[in-house]
Amino acid sequence: MFQINDNYQKLPGSYLFSTIAKKVAAFSEANPDKSIIRLGIGDVTQPIAPAIIEAMHKAVDEMADAKTFRGYAPDLGYEFLRKAISENDYKARGCDIEADEIFVSDGAKSDSGNIQEIFSTDNRIAVCDPVYPVYVDSNVMAGRTGTYDTATGMWSNVIYMPCTRENNFVPEFPKETPDMIYLCLPNNPTGTTIKKAQLQEWVDYANKVGAVIIYDGAYEAYISEDDVAHSIYECEGAKTCAIELKSFSKNAGFTGVRLGYTVVPKELKCGGVSLHGMWARRHGTKFNGAPYIIQRAGEAVYSDAGKAQLKEQIAYYMKNASTIKAGLQEAGFEVYGGVNAPYIWLKTPGQMTSWEFFDYLLEKANVVGTPGSGFGPSGEGYFRLTAFGSYENTVAALERIKAL
Ligand code: MLT
Repeated sequence: MFQINDNYQKLPGSYLFSTIAKKVAAFSEANPDKSIIRLGIGDVTQPIAPAIIEAMHKAVDEMADAKTFRGYAPDLGYEFLRKAISENDYKARGCDIEADEIFVSDGAKSDSGNIQEIFSTDNRIAVCDPVYPVYVDSNVMAGRTGTYDTATGMWSNVIYMPCTRENNFVPEFPKETPDMIYLCLPNNPTGTTIKKAQLQEWVDYANKVGAVIIYDGAYEAYISEDDVAHSIYECEGAKTCAIELKSFSKNAGFTGVRLGYTVVPKELKCGGVSLHGMWARRHGTKFNGAPYIIQRAGEAVYSDAGKAQLKEQIAYYMKNASTIKAGLQEAGFEVYGGVNAPYIWLKTPGQMTSWEFFDYLLEKANVVGTPGSGFGPSGEGYFRLTAFGSYENTVAALERIKAL
């Protein structure tokens, strides 16, 4: 008789954004006349930049000709893309990351869920609270998190680092020593970030205690302040303790196109074993490479035209962020984030729980957001709005919220 992976049985409810989608679909069915504005999941709305579309068209045409047709992509990524990433995202910032330390993938969500596979199930993870749910859920599936306490919303074997207004949403070193530390900066969901000097302290801490940092830099392109690191490898010593995950979803509008990459430096070792070699082995066995057409699209992100067009696209979304932030403040809300990230984190009014506020906003303003408690217990009493809507919808949503 076969057995299942019992760890899946421990997962509470469905994936956060699936739950929200179901609730919104039910509301929409019951209220077909209402026009709903979706500022929940961080999904982009603006078209792919022209320079990228042009590169994709060209790559499609290459696939139509036997002379330029491509079959399986190299499992670690095409050299042209890995070189463009190494030059633009790292060397241009003084980070010594070589093309062969970059693993191209179909997006950071897959990588952030899969990366835990190369670590022992005996490891203890530390996560910020609130946190992007994939880090915790994928560790639950692997059996690393212990048991779930429905009263506290916490796992017995996870080290939580609360990020609240009391500590300016900056995680503090945990009392217990973790083996794996997940950091997402600029942060999803709070939209806040830390200074480079503070990140350096995390790198020093990880090297000291022998922990690995899984660093999710998906929102790096939204950094607007000078003293914030665009990569963890800007910090000294990061190559011996950190893996960095990057996404094209938010900086180039690829949520539906799918492209990301992970950096595993060759210097990152555990007892003499190279994690780079392990991730290469995992990638080679379980992944057949991101599609050629999409990797050419990724390459165009780094062209002069691509860079200029994406700068405009990011400015567009950040204008939404300022609009949301200013509008909410005007309406009397306590608001965080939105300066170095496309997320706005607000305190729910009165004593409302995150889900109560979700229902209230959906019913009264027909605006969808994300309940903070869905990201972890310290998110209770908070709510997230995304700046990835259209400007018109963003303005309309704020008008509705102000009128409540
Ligand atoms: C979010 O809304 O938190 C993100 O869009 C989810 C993701 O990137 O997978």
